[in-house]
Amino acid sequence: MERGRDKPRHSDLLQSSTHSDYKRSGYSGDCYAHKRVRSGGETFPSVPRFLSTQRQLYERSFPVYKQPVEVGFFSLDSERNFFNDSRQLRYYVEPGKSPNFSLRDGYHDRFIKRDEGVKEGLDHMLRWILENRTKLQSKNSASSCALGVDFVTWRGHLTKLLTTPYETQEGWLLAASKFGGTIYISEVETEAARVNRESRTERHKEMMYWGFKFEQYICADDMNGVPDQGGVVNTNEAFCTVVQTRLSDHKLLFSGEVDCRDKDPRIPAPACYIELKTSAEICTPKQRSNFHRYKLLKWWAQSFLPGVPQIIAGFRDQDGIVVAVETFHISNISQLIKNEYNCWKPTVCMNFCSDFLSFVKSVVKEDNPRLVHLFEWEPHRDVMFSVHRDTQYTFLPDWYVNSMESHFAGGAQPLD
Ligand code: A3P
Ligand code: MG
Repeated sequence: MERGRDKPRHSDLLQSSTHSDYKRSGYSGDCYAHKRVRSGGETFPSVPRFLSTQRQLYERSFPVYKQPVEVGFFSLDSERNFFNDSRQLRYYVEPGKSPNFSLRDGYHDRFIKRDEGVKEGLDHMLRWILENRTKLQSKNSASSCALGVDFVTWRGHLTKLLTTPYETQEGWLLAASKFGGTIYISEVETEAARVNRESRTERHKEMMYWGFKFEQYICADDMNGVPDQGGVVNTNEAFCTVVQTRLSDHKLLFSGEVDCRDKDPRIPAPACYIELKTSAEICTPKQRSNFHRYKLLKWWAQSFLPGVPQIIAGFRDQDGIVVAVETFHISNISQLIKNEYNCWKPTVCMNFCSDFLSFVKSVVKEDNPRLVHLFEWEPHRDVMFSVHRDTQYTFLPDWYVNSMESHFAGGAQPLD
């Protein structure tokens, strides 16, 4: 790892922000803290060193967020093999109002769980890009960089960014590398997340299955099919949409898993997609308030990003029985939460994400797939970064880099 001018070691990062730095970035109205770099008497433009996550700084008008356009999709089968098609797309089958589904059914005998210890990084998205780059390039032919987008990432990483100003429990680590003029962002599991993952209780493990079981109760494999409620739940299987959009001046290409679609073939993607969720039944005003303040924030952020318009939620009791099913329209969620005191605001989420991406752009300047800037955040702190060259953090695989380089060397638009 590089010990840059002022770059702290990864483990030192959180100690390196001085009180006065914190005040400067957090209370002056500036989101960035800057450092002047002097060399041979010359003064270069200031280099931002960290980014505040304080909510008040992001309470301004809603940034431009273009309607996301689906540019493709892919599927992962029961063994996590990639297919450049929609074979895993499922169709929504409306359940009754109180369907009595038992989410515990099949946990011990009909459940195949994806190995979360296997870190796939951006690999499936990169595979999709290689197999569809001509489509992407013709769509973005006016752009100066090879893919015509500023950022490539997973939707889930963006969801974490959107919720950061309100997050008090879990930090994150995001690795960024610039290649061909595009910045790729891939998550690195934090130590705390690894410890949590490896020490889940049996009850927690079972409850993680409940969401997938709910999906099985209300999804069919074919447009006119019925759900196979006695089948195996295999969490390796996935259908992912790939969308393109723009947040402020950041052109984004990202992919996210989609639970199912409406049967009506006339509705185009991503408007036809439906997100499925489960949650504990709401019995008291306090539980309703918590649901609005915490759960709806995460639900909204996840679906708003790719333009998925609705969520079907199954509310379950302590024994995992679904006692009610409700539909949430993403466009109505800000109305639903408006009476909560001091609640989350969509504009804060989007402005923070936009400013984070500007911060990344201003830091990650060198075009080099083996160079990683690691952005790190812990609740109640600023976002910091460290620099790593040719280390275990390098995440763009040789098969991707070589294939892109030879493609562009062969006459396609040049890399920057
Ligand atoms: P629920 O959403 O009903 O909780 P997603 O909703 O994002 O499509 O995820 C599908 C299911 O994966 C979740 O269903 C839940 O069962 C499980 N899951 C995903 N992320 C999880 C997490 N961080 N902790 C626990 N369970 C998770
Ligand atoms: Mg879901």
